Amino acid sequence: MKVLVTGSTGQLGGELQKIAHNYHCDFVFTTTQDLDLKDMPHVSDFIRYEGFDWIINTAAYTAVDKAEEEKDEAFLINSMAVFNMIQAAEWIGAKFIHISTDYVFDGRKSTPYTEQDEINPQSVYAQSKAEGEKYVLKYNFGIVIRSSWLYSEFGHNFVKTMLRLASQRDEISVVFDQVGTPTYARDLAEMIMTIIQRHEKGGQLIEPGLYHFSNEGVASWYDFAQTIFEYSGKNVRLLPIRTHQLLRPAPRPAYSVLDKSKIKNLYNITIPHWRQSLRKAIKRIEKSL
Ligand SMILES: NC(=O)c1ccc[n+]([C@@H]2O[C@H](COP(=O)([O-])OP(=O)(O)OC[C@H]3O[C@@H](n4cnc5c(N)ncnc54)[C@H](OP(=O)(O)O)[C@@H]3O)[C@@H](O)[C@H]2O)c1
Repeated sequence: MKVLVTGSTGQLGGELQKIAHNYHCDFVFTTTQDLDLKDMPHVSDFIRYEGFDWIINTAAYTAVDKAEEEKDEAFLINSMAVFNMIQAAEWIGAKFIHISTDYVFDGRKSTPYTEQDEINPQSVYAQSKAEGEKYVLKYNFGIVIRSSWLYSEFGHNFVKTMLRLASQRDEISVVFDQVGTPTYARDLAEMIMTIIQRHEKGGQLIEPGLYHFSNEGVASWYDFAQTIFEYSGKNVRLLPIRTHQLLRPAPRPAYSVLDKSKIKNLYNITIPHWRQSLRKAIKRIEKSL
């Protein structure tokens, strides 16, 4: 079984690469250098020529604030390139797993978002991801997994930033009015491989559509930071601030907790609480710095 994983230098792509040896698959991991998703004819030819059974698209334009100025680039990678890939996937009969984001919601709810909830993306990044989702969901061989607040030993993320700042400053300000769920990208990578394995072993064919996956539990970024410092033994003064004090170009949802009932019931899985996963991840992340 041949599996293409795009975005292998990123958080999720890196985690998939790390666990790949546990699975009997012929993985092809690509970077921007090998396979720039913006080069659509090349991507299309590559997919058709290689003949993959599965395509896992973890690559994305993820610079949320910069996207406000680079709208064309964000839409090209998060939307048009996704359309291009899924067309090539259809051509060769590959199944397609695409990752999206909790940021497609406007954050005005106060109970967890289900797959049936209306999206209302507030930033350019979120709009470009929402359009990418739509393309995948038009086809009946693709799934979209929305996740939230990813962190990993690979790539850039909030955990790494907090650990770095803790060694440079005595005091750190973090927002307490944005609430969601931190998600260890390793857990998401394992979920993706569970979906593929169950399908391939014939026990459970994939059901195309939309799924939510994050770790369990709820936190503000402030709670997340506090727990990072607790688990890493960092002694730093943490100040709770409001989002408007940060003056960031792109708006974020105030509340973006995802309801994971659909994926949990379908696959009969339990998902670790974010604190449990963070405790496991933090040593690996510290080593990677
Ligand atoms: N990070 C989060 O908190 C979060 C939350 C929810 C959902 N998501 C979604 O989850 C997925 C994985 O996110 P992540 O955090 O792993 O992302 P990431 O760490 O930012 O990695 C993104 C990857 O995409 C690659 N990429 C960017 N432009 C490309 C292009 N033109 N052609 C080929 N590859 C390109 C990057 O390569 P370079 O190294 O060359 O830039 C990088 O490997 C994304 O779809 C993201 O939208 C992320």
